[in-house]
Amino acid sequence: MSDVKVYDVPAEWAERAYVGDAEYRRLYAASIADPDAFWGEHGKRIDWFKPYTKVKNTRYAPDVSIRWFEDGTTNVAHNCVDRHVGKRGDRTAIIWEGDNPAESRHISYRELSAEVQRFANVLKAQGVARGDRVTIYMPMIPEAAYAMLACARIGAVHSVVFGGFSPDSLAGRIADCASSVVVTADEGLRGGKPVPLKLNVDAACAKAGGVTSVIVVRRTAAAVPMTAGRDVYYDEAAKSVAAECPCEEMGAEDPLFILYTSGSTGKPKGVLHTTGGYLVYAAMTHQYVFDYHDGDIYWCTADVGWVTGHSYILYGPLANGATTLMFEGVPTWPSVSRCWEVIDKHKVNIFYTAPTAIRALMGSGEEPVKKTSRASLRLLGSVGEPINPEAWEWYHRVVGDERCPIVDTWWQTETGGILITPLPGATKLKPGSATRPFFGVKPEIVDADGKVQDGPCAGNLVIADSWPGQMRTVYGDHQRFFDTYFAAYKGKYFTGDGCRRDEDGYYWITGRVDDVINVSGHRMGTAEVESALVAHEKVSEAAVVGYPHDIKGQGIYAYVTLMRGEEPSEGLRKELVAWVRKEIGPIASPDLIQFAPGLPKTRSGKIMRRILRKIAEDDFGALGDTSTLADPAVVDDLVANRQNRA
Ligand code: WTA
Repeated sequence: MSDVKVYDVPAEWAERAYVGDAEYRRLYAASIADPDAFWGEHGKRIDWFKPYTKVKNTRYAPDVSIRWFEDGTTNVAHNCVDRHVGKRGDRTAIIWEGDNPAESRHISYRELSAEVQRFANVLKAQGVARGDRVTIYMPMIPEAAYAMLACARIGAVHSVVFGGFSPDSLAGRIADCASSVVVTADEGLRGGKPVPLKLNVDAACAKAGGVTSVIVVRRTAAAVPMTAGRDVYYDEAAKSVAAECPCEEMGAEDPLFILYTSGSTGKPKGVLHTTGGYLVYAAMTHQYVFDYHDGDIYWCTADVGWVTGHSYILYGPLANGATTLMFEGVPTWPSVSRCWEVIDKHKVNIFYTAPTAIRALMGSGEEPVKKTSRASLRLLGSVGEPINPEAWEWYHRVVGDERCPIVDTWWQTETGGILITPLPGATKLKPGSATRPFFGVKPEIVDADGKVQDGPCAGNLVIADSWPGQMRTVYGDHQRFFDTYFAAYKGKYFTGDGCRRDEDGYYWITGRVDDVINVSGHRMGTAEVESALVAHEKVSEAAVVGYPHDIKGQGIYAYVTLMRGEEPSEGLRKELVAWVRKEIGPIASPDLIQFAPGLPKTRSGKIMRRILRKIAEDDFGALGDTSTLADPAVVDDLVANRQNRA
């Protein structure tokens, strides 16, 4: 495509970066030619209690088994905390910026070490042992990080659930991993408004059963009900525990965490990541992709409830001894200048956010950005969804003053870390392209039959071989792991994303090709929203698809067939939106609901989503072949009553 703008590597970046273009090509080729040698060397970036002698032991067929550094032992908290205390104990590990701009704190590595050990002892006092699952449902406060690292320290497996999920969603996740301990806060605080975390936990526990201990961190000091014998305030429990807690010696393949994510079918999957390979990969990508050097101030705006928060607020940066900023609030409060003010306040050098945030802020124009300095900024990052070239250009020109490269990083909960990305000192940028693979990553593009395409092409994105950060299984369901990712294209990991490769070998992710939609960078399974809708007593059938949305990237479009005798109304529309929010959480709220007397089905009863997607996109001129429908007339009604009109 000749109209694509290309941005060269700025001179100062070619100068300062760890790797330039030639070095990238050399290292990449080496990583693919001999993964054992490459990762055998780079695995040494973390401390091992017992060094590994084996590096890669992975297969995708005939079954799936993924092991890295399997005979080594280590501990993630040792690597993220303890090992830095001697060398840089006074260096800030976490800058915490509160929801209220008047509140912020610096937590040194020494303080972090003390806090994590104390938290670990509180967990132990509540009966948590190695291998136990601990659910963490927390706001963005330092205690969320302490709790995660405390689990890692004692070998417990954390399952962080995003604080925006409903009690029902939380209950499903608690039950799936049989977690008997939950860590939460009295309330969260976002944009000046309280979030009733403890009340949600109470409702979730009632539904899930099996929770014997709830540890409550005081954030707002709101009065919340405490169940005697089950609930303890963290500060009170912390008074009676020892200050020191040794690290458990963990095998490289011992589980580190579970993180639930939406797929195209069924309930959310518990993505399981293990210890050694995950940490090596998160740390290495954090260093090279963000070109992190000692002393840099780094800010990733994600929530710890998502994988980006795990790998790039916590584990990657802390393993590198970095200073990582943790932000409790939202980009639009108290004003739309908040992010840029935080950058000036803490002299942030590297800023990593999602396209949806950029698009939302673009709407307020340049002035709220330009009135701040942002002189400290050197590098910008993007993650979570495709970034449209307009948003990329705005980010580059307005936020980065045309000085800062943008790393558009493609990856997934399943991949543990970034797989396709520019490196700021090596890669010429094309707005909208995630560009090239990271070391050790072998992307391929296949057609519907699984045939690998050469040269410039488009198709489905697969990864041909394993990398250390890859998920190891679906918690409790290894067969589902195989069926979801390794069955479609034999011997390859299927990402679920569509992709194009251009004449320079650059990758352009075009979005999901399955029934997963990406709303404001959050993954939603359409099946989950559908099952929430049909759980409503007035709904007989529902089909949910994504449609292009200016700010969210994709919006949620629901076709709803009502029970016989029920009448469509504005009131019912609102009721259904509120219902889905309650069932799943606000991120799943349908943007548009179309009441449909019938859905387009094949004669065998399968809903033809292709048609529903087209109508939702307001592109009904191109419905394709509808002759196989059981009742072609339903399409006319759907088109006539479509909700998204240009
Ligand atoms: C999408 C978030 C285009 C993609 C880290 C992927 C992207 C899904 C990008 C994973 C990007 C993520 N460009 N699309 N830079 N980054 N995606 O598991 O569809 O929440 O499959 O992980 O987000 O979402 P997840």
